[in-house]
Amino acid sequence: TLRAVVEGVGHYLPDRIVPNSEFEKSLDTSDEWIRTRSGIERRHFAAEDQTTSDLAVRAARAALENAGLSVEDIDGIIVATSTPDLTFPSVATMVQRDLGMTRGFGFDVQAVCAGFVYALTNAHALIVAGQARRLLVIGAETFSRIMDWTDRSTCVLFGDGAGALILGAQEGNGSTEDRGVLSADLNSDGRYREMLYVDGGVSSTGTAGKLRMQGNPLFRQAVEKLTSTADAALDKIGLQGSDVDWIVPHQANIRIIQGTARKMGLSMDKVIVTVQDHGNTSAASIPLALSVGVEQGRIRQGDLVLSEAIGGGLAWGAVVLRW
Ligand code: ACO
Repeated sequence: TLRAVVEGVGHYLPDRIVPNSEFEKSLDTSDEWIRTRSGIERRHFAAEDQTTSDLAVRAARAALENAGLSVEDIDGIIVATSTPDLTFPSVATMVQRDLGMTRGFGFDVQAVCAGFVYALTNAHALIVAGQARRLLVIGAETFSRIMDWTDRSTCVLFGDGAGALILGAQEGNGSTEDRGVLSADLNSDGRYREMLYVDGGVSSTGTAGKLRMQGNPLFRQAVEKLTSTADAALDKIGLQGSDVDWIVPHQANIRIIQGTARKMGLSMDKVIVTVQDHGNTSAASIPLALSVGVEQGRIRQGDLVLSEAIGGGLAWGAVVLRW
């Protein structure tokens, strides 16, 4: 059985760190409110001249170094993002150029906060189908560019950053003991559009637009849908919550993360949490958390990792992989 195995991981966060207290100067909000409602303490914001592809390239270089590989070893690049530098070309082809990669392919995946789960599932499918031997899978965002800085209910929640994985084809024996992606579950339902969207775009307003969110109803959808997609991904391969070594969830809100872990019967000791330091970085949050989890020596080879995410669409899903 051909498996798509993690061979390297890396991330990049822009230098500028913004603590909650900075929002107290311009908005009717407080560090206390942001911390207790979301778990967020600080976030990174990209510099004015730093774009999503800049962050993505830094994360890609870190992952290549971590894997001990060079760009010649890579067959393709998939970037999950909702905040591309330009309408086109894709961020992936910009990363390709900046890395000096002159062969292979690159494309972007847009499923907002679920983007990395979608990208990983696509990468796995391409590798298993024999279309590529080794892929760079990146989540990269500059959500600071689509914030309405007068809306306290959204602008305090998001941050910028990028994370990258390298997936390589390796033979397994077909059991759930194999390393690599073992299962995935993808979902979307366009009826929920109003809960989370950006009020601009190329073919409607001709502007980039700003993020709009109904936080409270979204919160209620999140815990329920994240638990069911996580259960579905595990169930497809005959595993259950108790088999999981690490939940590495999308980092939107500590209360959503805690609620999902509780519903799955798992203690918070088994959850990688970065939301306090990164805020919600949309498609970048899972690869950032994976990279931090490895850096901290927590996620180790052979561990069963479950990642789940939900975002605009709504779109949601989960991936189970053995590290
Ligand atoms: N500072 C102070 N008060 C605030 C702020 C703020 N920054 N923002 C909102 N409030 C006020 C509201 O106006 C409201 O006041 P009111 O009762 O007088 O109307 C009060 O706080 C409570 O607001 P709620 O929205 O009910 O607060 P809630 O406990 O639901 O927390 C939050 C809000 C943090 C947005 C939460 O609903 C949430 O995290 N929702 C899910 C969001 C999410 O996960 N989004 C991402 C998923 S998809 C993606 O990642 C893109």
